[in-house]
Order: sequence, then C-alpha cells, then structure tokens
Amino acid sequence: MKKGFSSFLSYPLMLALSGRRSRRVSRGIQANSGRSGDQRGTNDDALTAFETKIVLSCVAGSTSWIHFVEMNPDYPLKAEHIPSDLMGRTYPSAGGWYPTTFFFTDDTGVHVLSRSVEAPLPDTVEEVNGPNIDLAGFTTKLTSNRLRIAPEYISAHNLKYANVEGSLLILPVCDMSQIVLEMIALLVVNGGTVVDDIAQQRLPNIHDLEVKLDLQRAMPVSAIERNALTLAASEMAIACHNGMLVLQAMGLGGWMFSGFDSAGVLCGSRRGRKNGLGFRSMKHSGNSTPNIVGLDGILEGYCPPYYEEMDCAFDSLLNNKKAFIEAHLQREGHLRKDYDNITTSGFGLSEAQTEVVKGIATYMHSKYGRFPVTVPTMFLHNMLQAHHIDLDYYLNSTNDRWLEPHVLRAENW
Ligand SMILES: Cc1cc2nc3c(=O)[nH]c(=O)nc-3n(C[C@H](O)[C@H](O)[C@H](O)COP(=O)(O)O)c2cc1C
Repeated sequence: MKKGFSSFLSYPLMLALSGRRSRRVSRGIQANSGRSGDQRGTNDDALTAFETKIVLSCVAGSTSWIHFVEMNPDYPLKAEHIPSDLMGRTYPSAGGWYPTTFFFTDDTGVHVLSRSVEAPLPDTVEEVNGPNIDLAGFTTKLTSNRLRIAPEYISAHNLKYANVEGSLLILPVCDMSQIVLEMIALLVVNGGTVVDDIAQQRLPNIHDLEVKLDLQRAMPVSAIERNALTLAASEMAIACHNGMLVLQAMGLGGWMFSGFDSAGVLCGSRRGRKNGLGFRSMKHSGNSTPNIVGLDGILEGYCPPYYEEMDCAFDSLLNNKKAFIEAHLQREGHLRKDYDNITTSGFGLSEAQTEVVKGIATYMHSKYGRFPVTVPTMFLHNMLQAHHIDLDYYLNSTNDRWLEPHVLRAENW
C-alpha cells in the first residue's frame, strides 16, 4: 500500500480540523495573471487518478444502509415514506432524499457520478493495493476536455485559482424539483397543506379532495422553497466540507467556493461559445433569469419539459424511489421483508393524499409556468477544488500554512 495512503488513513481528525485552511495556490499559477481564463496552472503535476478516486469517494461515497426516520404514530399507513435510497453516504441528506448529483472535471474531461461510489472504508482497503474504489462502474464521461467556464461566470477573486489545469473540480448539482415534491408529500402525509402566499390565496380544488387537511399547518409556497434551498445548500456544503478535511490529510490543496454564476456554469452558452456543463434553461415571463431545468438524459428535473404534467413527474419520482430501493433489496435479498411496506404503500401516502400532492404541484406549475416557483429547478451552490499545492509558496509564507502531509506528499504518494 502506498505510504501516503496508509498515513492518510490514520491521520487524526483533530489535526485535519485544526489545520483546515483554504489553500488556493496550486502549482504553476503564480506566474500567470489568470485573467484570460485560459491555460492556468500546470498539468505536469495533475491530481492522480488514485487521488481523484479517494477525494470523490470521500465527498460522495456510500457507506451503509440508513436507519429510517421513526414513524409518526399518527400516520394512517404503517410505512416509512421518506427515503429515496437505502444507501447512506459520507454526508447526510434531509429525509434521506439524496437529491444531489456530483459532476466533476479534471484534465481527462467532464464526468458525472451516476450514483454514489463506495467510500474507502477500512474494510474495503486491501493491504497491498489500498482502497478498492471502482469509479468506472459509477461514472459517465460527458466530454474529453476539462470543463470550460467563461471568465464572466467566475467571480473576479476566484478567476486566477479556479478550475486550473491539473486540478479536480467537483460540482454538486441539486435537483430542487425533487426536494420540493418530497417536502410537499411530507407536509401532506402529516396532514398539512400549501397556500400560495405569492398570489395570496388558498389553492383552488385541493381542499375539496377527500383528505383531512389542516389549514393551521399550511405552509406558504415561498417558505417551502426557501427551506428546500437551505436543505440543498447544507447538503452540498457538508459533502464538500468532508472533502476539504480529506484534502488536509492527503497533503492536497484546494478549497470550497461559491463565487461563480451558477446558471452560467450549468448552462454556459453566452456569446455562442460552448462552455459550461450544457444544462438546458427555459425562459419564463416575469422572471429576469431563465430557469435551469436539467441536463438531457443525465439529470432531468421532475417537471416539464421532461414530463408533460406534474402528475406524471410525481409518479415518476415515486417510481424512481421504488426502483432505487428495489435495486438495493435485490442485492441484499434477506432484508426484503423489512422494507416491503415502504414500496407497496406508495411511501406512506394514501391514494387521496397522492392526489393532493399532485394537485398542489399542478397548481404551482400551471399558475407560474415553472416548478419550483421561486428557486431554480437545478441548483449548484458551491464547488470543491483539489490540487497539488505550490509547496514553495506555502513554505515561504509568513505563518505556517502547510501541514506535514503537504510536505511529505511528493515523497509518499
Ligand atoms: C459557502 C462558502 C463560499 C465561499 N466562497 C468562496 C469564494 O468564492 N472564493 C474564495 O476564495 N473563498 C470562498 N470561500 C472560502 C472562504 O473565503 C474561506 O473559508 C475564508 O476566507 C477563511 O479561510 P480558511 O478557509 O483558510 O479558514 C467560501 C467558503 C464558504 C463556506
């Protein structure tokens, strides 16, 4: 096993925490102003495939099966309705929904993790070969070139350092349509409902359905979506921060940042140049900025244009939840009986409650022409960059801004 990897495994968490620093200066960027957005950094000392796998699997890796959230004893159906996946990750996710997809770029191209990769748990580490992390089965290559982000989409203070040659840049993208649908379903299953605080009205027709809805527990659309946005930002930040801690232990530099134009990085088509991840955006009257709805065939929002109606979008969400869970059950058949009622009962929603959720989502989309109404369908909040640091720069800086793994990295990895 590589010496660097074995000392990484035993590096104390407290040292990673107390030594955590944003180390933006990678090899090769000091000589360049970086303003052109082209050819910064150096690829003669790019992150290795081995290092890339470790960072990715610590940011997004799967760990073990999640424990379900305890049932509310008042639920009409005896079923846990919440999770979208049985497999937990290195980071937590509100409701076990796991709505984040991880894109990444390096000198080999742009890739997406289809589902989570395995985290390098000690029991997956072989004495000789190190961690057995199979990225191949979990990634899709989107392009063979590093992601190009037009300079106008990166905040000026990040231009020199971000997405430089040789670096690994991880971009977590959260599907807000999934979170908002899940939140509405959770509200409805708990007997609550939604009111439209923007148009200052109750939702027509919904309250005539044969479900007991408690208007005292009604949540305004904008409050649901604000909560959804904070859940998403927390999840993405926690995942990236796990990666940040790991960078300290691996002797890598890098940092987490949100100084960029999210729509520009996702769609990036300004001035006819082909930049960005290639997401599709849609204009809506009354909105100053277009809404980003998805990346065709890779990550599609639960809303039009990917579904004709919100009804179908919600059915598809339930089916996908069921499929993810079924896939895990197939692998671990002996546990099936414990989870049977989750999938057979529509995740705790009665048929009438399912109609209410669909009615709310349909109202929101038809009234405002988009779903969700106030937040983007696809949301990129922060990125994490990992790179080899310019060691001389850090050794010569006034205070000790390096850790032992940084000094030993070249020798040990
Ligand atoms: C949500 C978030 C966004 C950030 N955005 C940027 C950024 O755009 N550019 C940058 O250089 N640093 C960014 N940072 C890093 C902070 O600037 C950095 O943590 C702070 O200066 C303290 O330095 P330290 O990380 O070395 O302790 C961000 C940090 C967080 C948590």
